Amino acid sequence: MESKIDILTGIIETRRTVKPEFFSSRPVERPVIDHILENATWAPTHGMNEPWHFVVFTGVARQTLADFLVQNYLYNTPPHKVNEQKKQLLAKRPLMASHIIAICMKRKPDTKIPENEDLAAVACAVQNMHLTATAYGLVAYWSTPAGTYANSTKDFLGLAGQDHCLGFWYLGYAQQPPQKGSRTPAAEKTVWRT
Ligand SMILES: Cc1cc2nc3c(=O)[nH]c(=O)nc-3n(C[C@H](O)[C@H](O)[C@H](O)COP(=O)(O)O)c2cc1C
Repeated sequence: MESKIDILTGIIETRRTVKPEFFSSRPVERPVIDHILENATWAPTHGMNEPWHFVVFTGVARQTLADFLVQNYLYNTPPHKVNEQKKQLLAKRPLMASHIIAICMKRKPDTKIPENEDLAAVACAVQNMHLTATAYGLVAYWSTPAGTYANSTKDFLGLAGQDHCLGFWYLGYAQQPPQKGSRTPAAEKTVWRT
């Protein structure tokens, strides 16, 4: 039997970003979505702030999201910088994914925890989502298009005050197994003091 550490390392190393144009049309089952979100909540969180907040788009709501992303891109991009290809991708990607989860951070009123620590906690929650998705044989894509951090996005998602949207997480089954990833060895990113 494979050891726990081998299973975990395998999931970590095989997790891959795959964009929706490479998703199949197979829908993700609701209990799987629920499990992904439940596992997200087990991320570390300073002061037990649990700052994550999710808005799940599926079914016809994906078209509403696509329309918003296009409008938001145009609203938050100077006209001479608008890229037609990017615009088209924003219009079609939500419809290629089974579910899209808006990744949000909600701040507790009067919290003493610095904002960057709540941001870090939400990022940890996203990694839990990624790893859970990988364990279910799913792929995902964390997308942060132009306008992600704008007030227009907060309004769309029902966020206010110090809350923020940190991106859109596209989820689905891949048409084919993702390619192997690559990383710089940890030794090149590590300084030891002994
Ligand atoms: C906070 C965050 C935002 C990201 N936003 C984008 C994005 O807007 N567009 C994109 O192509 N990839 C985005 N990515 C995904 C990276 O491109 C991807 O993780 C990287 O290419 C490494 O590939 P891997 O995830 O398969 O290891 C984002 C990742 C993170 C952590």
